[in-house]
Order: sequence, then structure tokens, then C-alpha cells
Amino acid sequence: MSKNKLQRFAEMKRFNNVIEPPFEEVFQKDHQLKGRWHDSVFDNDHPIILELGCGKGEYTVNLARRYPQYNFIGIDIKGARMWKGAKQALSEGIRNAVFLRTRIDFIRSFFACDEISGIWITFPDPQPKKPLKRLVSTRFLERYQHFLQHRSVVHLKTDNTQVHQYARLLVYTNELEILRNEGDVHATRDEDLQEIRNIKTFYEQQFIGENKKIKYLAFRLDKDKVLAEPPEEEEDPWSVPKDKKEKSEAVTGARGNDFQEKQLDHNNPPAQP
Ligand SMILES: C[S@@+](CC[C@H](N)C(=O)[O-])C[C@H]1O[C@@H](n2cnc3c(N)ncnc32)[C@H](O)[C@@H]1O
Repeated sequence: MSKNKLQRFAEMKRFNNVIEPPFEEVFQKDHQLKGRWHDSVFDNDHPIILELGCGKGEYTVNLARRYPQYNFIGIDIKGARMWKGAKQALSEGIRNAVFLRTRIDFIRSFFACDEISGIWITFPDPQPKKPLKRLVSTRFLERYQHFLQHRSVVHLKTDNTQVHQYARLLVYTNELEILRNEGDVHATRDEDLQEIRNIKTFYEQQFIGENKKIKYLAFRLDKDKVLAEPPEEEEDPWSVPKDKKEKSEAVTGARGNDFQEKQLDHNNPPAQP
């Protein structure tokens, strides 16, 4: 391991905005913070939003700066990346953002029923051969259902066509409400998406440099819905099975294969956490 990484790990142990529980504290058991984040960590009762696979925590830090009336938790297993966001939040005195270093597979150990009000998933690993390992898969969404408030918004930002297609099919298959779906956020001038364009993660900047289109999907997750896996991916990444499409258009106002759904809920625009 590089000296730089070791230094960061050592420094993070002293950061009061980073929680790094050992494996034994979370494997098949509840962590002591479960159900106590408001009182023990944030000292307020503001809604809590998660950034999953936060990397350097660009969304956690930027949203926390912009929305002091919310709390944010960036979660990732990679400590050296997280160090950057944690250090920045500390140096700016941002008190409504903290970081949790853990495997997201154990996320149910950390949050109690209804403790969380929204989720951002920023550039998740595509897992091309193992869709259930995607942070936006049914397996993970089922975990999130346990602690998310009913119909909380899940935001997904990705460069990856397969992940975007999978998530869209999942949403259509399960008739979840889509708030926004964009195939290329940096090509639109839509003001509602300004914040989505302005906050660029580390990976996003690389993907933009490779001329990849950045996609964005925001949907509501119903708490008690039994989720079905979407059908196998189609050859045309923009197509949706006809029967699903007809159903979904009634629900979401989708207008065909370009998927520029404009069924934006202005009380809950995607630019808000
Ligand atoms: C492609 S990177 C994106 C990082 C950051 N969101 C960005 O856009 O720059 C994916 C991140 O997800 C994290 N990750 C993937 N699966 C995870 C899991 N099961 N538990 C915790 N972190 C995970 C990885 O460690 C990595 O930092």
C-alpha cells in the first residue's frame, strides 16, 4: 500500500466526521448508530440523504453545502477516496455531512425503518455480468426499502448505458414513478437539471473527457412493493418491451423511445435532495 494511502487512513482515524466500524460490529448485527443518527451524529431532526458509492463524496459535500436543512451521509468502502470529501467538509466546517466507510451490502445494520429520506447513487460500478451486485439492483433496492421513508426519491447518475437501461427497465417492470429520465444531462439546458450538471464527480469528469453521455434517472421507491427483477436487457439499449411501455406511459407520461420524460414533480424537483 502506498505511503500516501497509509497517511490518509491514519488521518481519517482522527476525523470526527468519519465512521469506520470494524466488520464484527456490522456483520449480521445492528450497529449502535442504527436509529440514532439524528440524535447522536447530527444533533437535529433534519431529513437524512445518502450518497452510495460516494467515492470522494462530491455529492455529499456539495449538497450539504447547498442544503443546510438536510443531513448527508456519503458511504463507500474505499477509505482513501472518502478522505478527500471528509477533509473538505471538515476544513469548510460543514456539519451536516458525514462519511461512513463500510460495504453497502451491510447497509441494513446502520439504518432503522424510515430513518432515511432519499438516496443518490453516483456512477455505480456497472457489474456487467452480475446485475444483482449493482447498487441499483432489486437486491439492493430491497435493502433500501427497509429504512427509506415511503416513496423517497432514488437518484441515479451514470455513464453506463447498461446500468441506465437496467434501472429503467426495473422501474418500468415494477411500475415505480419516474420523476426524471435524461439520456445526456450535459446536452440539455434545462434549468431543472442545472444542479445535476454542476456537481460533477471524479469519475464523471473522466467519462466526460471520454465523450460519454451522462445519464440521470430519478424515481420514487414504494416501501412495501415486492420488487421483480427486470427482463433480460434488449439489444437496443433504448427500447422497452411494448407491454411495459404502454403501461408505463400511463403511469409516467413517457413519450416513446427517446425517454425524455418530463413528468417532473415540481414540489420535489430532482435538483433537490
Ligand atoms: C465507479 S466508482 C464512483 C465513485 C464516485 N461516486 C464518483 O462518481 O466519482 C464506484 C464506487 O462505489 C464503491 N462501491 C461499489 N460497490 C460497493 C459496495 N458494495 N460497498 C461499498 N462501496 C461500494 C467503490 O468503492 C467506488 O468508490
